Amino acid sequence: MGIGVGADVVSSDGLTYTVGQTVAVREASVCVARGEVVAITGPSGSGKSTLLFLLAGVLSPDKGSVHLNGVDLGAVSDRARAGLRLRQCGFVMQFGDLIPELTLAENVELPLRLTGVSARKARATADGLLARLGLDGERNRTPSRVSGGQAQRAAIARALVHQPSVVFADEPTGALDSHSAAQSLSALLDLARAGGSALILVTHAAEVAATADRVLTMRDGVLQA
Ligand SMILES: Nc1ncnc2c1ncn2[C@@H]1O[C@H](COP(=O)(O)OP(=O)(O)O)[C@@H](O)[C@H]1O
Ligand SMILES: [Mg+2]
Repeated sequence: MGIGVGADVVSSDGLTYTVGQTVAVREASVCVARGEVVAITGPSGSGKSTLLFLLAGVLSPDKGSVHLNGVDLGAVSDRARAGLRLRQCGFVMQFGDLIPELTLAENVELPLRLTGVSARKARATADGLLARLGLDGERNRTPSRVSGGQAQRAAIARALVHQPSVVFADEPTGALDSHSAAQSLSALLDLARAGGSALILVTHAAEVAATADRVLTMRDGVLQA
């Protein structure tokens, strides 16, 4: 697997993305170092989610480039890009997006199973992580049978279980009450920092941004200097 010479996990240059008449992201250049926690803040509609999905290679820019661990995401096939996302990235969305038919444990095992880890090893790893997040009693429940905060912690476990080099989180605590939000946020930061994963965290909560190593602000599609 090609790992670039630089220390950056993610770097982008001049990313521009237009939706209809709206320039959702304009000339965005960002570098995120190994293990770094970067918060992206800004008003609703300022382009935070679009930037996150461009950096993750989910959206393709109209202009500009993204490198993930030294690989130019615009220069590889869709299949290769999906493989890089699976192995090197984790995702946490606002509503968790756990698979409703699977138990919490099965959800957390999924990235491991998809990357060829044995069922036994995946189960042990997922169980360890769920226990660490205080979810041992919920491991065999489906997401609809647990609280929003518990489901979001399981989603965080799923995002980090395969020790990705970068986790992309889009308002991961935005749908939770303040107690559950604080618990989920500390789970996310603890697991990312313990595993050495970089974290790119979109949030409009100032207290969430305050936990980051660096804060970037977006306004009208432009990253503020
Ligand atoms: N799929 C889409 N269809 C229409 N407009 C979109 C789409 N994605 C983004 N936009 C527009 O791009 C701008 C930035 O959106 P977004 O990245 O979702 O902002 P944020 O996450 O900061 O709220 C907004 O004006 C939004 O309406
Ligand atoms: Mg958004």
